[in-house]
Amino acid sequence: MSPRVMTVLGVSALGLSAYIGYLYASYRREVTYSQNLSATVPATANVTDRYNTTARTFDADVEMSEKLMRLGAKRRDLCRRARGDVLEVSCGTGRNIEYYDFGPVRRGIVDERTGAVGVRGCRSVTFVDLSPQMVDMARRKFEEIYPGDEALRKRVEFRVEDAAAVGGGPSREITGAAVAGQPKPYFDTVVQTMGLCSLPDPVGTLKHLGTLVDPQKGEILLLEHGRSHYAWLNRVLDNLAPAHADRHGCWWNRDIGQIVRESGLEVVEEKRWHFGTTWKYVLRPARKAAE
Ligand SMILES: C[S@@+](CC[C@H](N)C(=O)[O-])C[C@H]1O[C@@H](n2cnc3c(N)ncnc32)[C@H](O)[C@@H]1O
Ligand SMILES: *[C@@H]1O[C@H](CO)[C@@H](O)[C@H](O)[C@H]1NC(C)=O
Ligand SMILES: *[C@@H]1O[C@H](CO)[C@@H](O)[C@H](O)[C@H]1NC(C)=O
Ligand SMILES: *[C@@H]1O[C@H](CO)[C@@H](O)[C@H](O)[C@H]1NC(C)=O
Repeated sequence: MSPRVMTVLGVSALGLSAYIGYLYASYRREVTYSQNLSATVPATANVTDRYNTTARTFDADVEMSEKLMRLGAKRRDLCRRARGDVLEVSCGTGRNIEYYDFGPVRRGIVDERTGAVGVRGCRSVTFVDLSPQMVDMARRKFEEIYPGDEALRKRVEFRVEDAAAVGGGPSREITGAAVAGQPKPYFDTVVQTMGLCSLPDPVGTLKHLGTLVDPQKGEILLLEHGRSHYAWLNRVLDNLAPAHADRHGCWWNRDIGQIVRESGLEVVEEKRWHFGTTWKYVLRPARKAAE
């Protein structure tokens, strides 16, 4: 190796270790700051109001990491499974809107991957979020994706509402005369993405969502983020959690699997990616023993 190459390598190594040192120092600083916050922001703190102020920049803030993690494909897969009258809670800026299949409801469709025969297509989607600013962003996104589509506009609804307080099925306005004048008591599908991290009562709210879908055929579809398979990564998440929650309104160290188990809902499908931090669930209401 020539002396020049060695010098370049030496300088690079020095620069790299200085950079790693810098990263480590700022990580320690952030941990101290975060641990200091844990008195005022305990893991049970209700931090949902943060989304009021982050709504406008939310998409720009998550765009890069979602691209790197290819979350778009996972959102698409999840939303393709939604059918009939759909409720999406904690909808945020409406990042799933583009993925719903708003084609007519079709029966007897064969799934190209699993071969299972089922129903496809959404008749209506009701979007709910606690933050009025978020609902505003979602409404705007819908208009951007489907400009001037009046027919489709009649099949969606945007509501400022606590997920834990949603009652009954889809409103008469969006189901129209579909069910001969009777209000439909249940949704067919409930969707939530990246929501359990933010709910003040994730188990209670998930239980509630289970009562909103058809007891026989309804499904609850989740794409969530939380704890990892790995202890070292969980340590990082735990160390920084209070600071992250205080800034973004989201507890990124929650055990999503445990929340799902405690909800008592039946697990139809479970998958994890990204060191185990991204969780997908297909759930349905627990069958009663007698059925
Ligand atoms: C991390 S964001 C996810 C947004 C969107 N679902 C997505 O995948 O990008 C969490 C959202 O949950 C909403 N939220 C928090 N608590 C809620 C509650 N109790 N009911 C409904 N929405 C809630 C927040 O306002 C925020 O928009
Ligand atoms: C920790 O909190 C105390 C009181 O809230 C504050 O005075 C101190 O500066 C904080 N330390 C750090 C490192 O943030
Ligand atoms: C959490 O706080 C928000 C206001 O910031 C409030 O609307 C909501 O009802 C609270 N939820 C709980 C369970 O305390
Ligand atoms: C702020 O957010 C909370 C819940 O996150 C909501 O209840 C409240 O109405 C919001 N306030 C404003 C001024 O938007």
